[in-house]
Amino acid sequence: MDIGNNWEYIKEVVERGQRSTIYCSIASINSDGTPNITPIGTVFLRNDKTGYFFDHYTTSLAENLDGDSRLCLSAVDAGKLFWLRSFLKGRFISPPGVRLYGEATPLREATPEEIKLIEARVRPTKWLKGSRLLWTNFTHVRDIEFTQYRPITYPVMMDGLW
Ligand SMILES: Cc1cc2nc3c(=O)[nH]c(=O)nc-3n(C[C@H](O)[C@H](O)[C@H](O)COP(=O)(O)O)c2cc1C
Repeated sequence: MDIGNNWEYIKEVVERGQRSTIYCSIASINSDGTPNITPIGTVFLRNDKTGYFFDHYTTSLAENLDGDSRLCLSAVDAGKLFWLRSFLKGRFISPPGVRLYGEATPLREATPEEIKLIEARVRPTKWLKGSRLLWTNFTHVRDIEFTQYRPITYPVMMDGLW
């Protein structure tokens, strides 16, 4: 489906999904045509149907996007409170997830503003050893331009959504 005027709604679903699970799944296409999925926790969405992520550790995702820029990003809200409230009501209180389709651009240096945003996101965990080991020295990003989306549906509980 064309993103059209739904971007704000879609963006909220992706951001909520990423917050709840700490990542989005990004599917790309291997050179032999087989699929590959990579968890990415540093997705940022802008207001103009674009976004970016910090590409720091990936192997196949980076290789694949360099050869074929198409990707599919999926985010699902796995929050216990979200599911409890939805189950009590018998209807999802907001969409459980969404898939976005788009194309990534080549790796580029992150801007100072983008570095500030990722540092702010990981700051609450900075006192933890693992956070300092994994979530430092972010330097490079890939932009993504999104064109299409597909809601993730779970029949019966979807009334009034999308
Ligand atoms: C929850 C989670 C979030 C991750 N976020 C990122 C990220 O934002 N950027 C990155 O470069 N690697 C990230 N990684 C690491 C890659 O997903 C990992 O290195 C993966 O094996 C690369 O797969 P690939 O070969 O498909 O590229 C993350 C891993 C996990 C488990």
